[in-house]
Amino acid sequence: MMKAPPMKQHLNPAQRPLSRPIRQTAACIVLACLGWPSAHADGSRMPAKILPSYTAECAACHTAYPPGMLPASSWQRIMKGLDRHYGTDASLDAKTVAEIGQWLQTHAGTYKRVAEAPPQDRLTQSAWFERKHRKIEAAVWQLPSVKSAANCAACHTGTEQGFFDDDHLQRPAGLSARQSRAWND
Ligand code: HEC
Ligand code: HEC
Repeated sequence: MMKAPPMKQHLNPAQRPLSRPIRQTAACIVLACLGWPSAHADGSRMPAKILPSYTAECAACHTAYPPGMLPASSWQRIMKGLDRHYGTDASLDAKTVAEIGQWLQTHAGTYKRVAEAPPQDRLTQSAWFERKHRKIEAAVWQLPSVKSAANCAACHTGTEQGFFDDDHLQRPAGLSARQSRAWND
């Protein structure tokens, strides 16, 4: 079940009606600069039609990453090496591999910032990822409430639906006051 996204803690309720459209416009401009438009009009990074086997098989151990966040070459290597998948065995039958692989190729990132395959085919090691998260202290990724940068949902409450904007952010437990600052704009 999906939870309703929590309100942003640092905005007082009176500010919200006015600030929301402005913030969304700002987010669109930022994304345009990133050279990486939303997969569809509502701002979600997920394709409008999500392949059911992608959710079933690729969101079992972690959340389903938006296909547009990695280039086709990265997805191809990932789908060819599922038996040695980041230290685990994520093997699937050949038919499912072909189906998911095809869907990922169709929706892979083609925009400038995503075109180059990141180290280890990790979207968390992409230049855009590091830039977007540069205010987050290294220790934050190690918190028990976060565990890994790959655990998007620790901070992005809209992960499953593909929303990574400021309106779908939460602070993971255990942040110090200084570390919390990355959550304020
Ligand atoms: C058996 C568990 C398991 C399954 C099933 C699984 N993964 Fe993973 N995946 C992992 C682990 C573990 C990592 C490493 C996470 C980390 O570093 O914190 C990972 C990492 C990834 C990453 C890199 C994340 C980063 O750091 O940027 C991608 C991309 C990925 N998986 C895609 C897939 C796809 C596509 C599928 C479905 C075909 C899939 N995974 C299925 C366990 C799994
Ligand atoms: C420890 C918390 C945390 C984790 C884990 C995390 N992020 Fe973020 N992310 C943030 C914060 C905080 C921001 C906002 C930074 C800012 O506004 O300066 C952000 C910003 C972003 C943005 C930019 C959004 C925009 O509108 O410009 C994207 C895209 C993003 N994250 C994707 C991801 C993905 C994908 C993952 C998982 C692979 C992930 N993040 C994991 C905290 C996190």
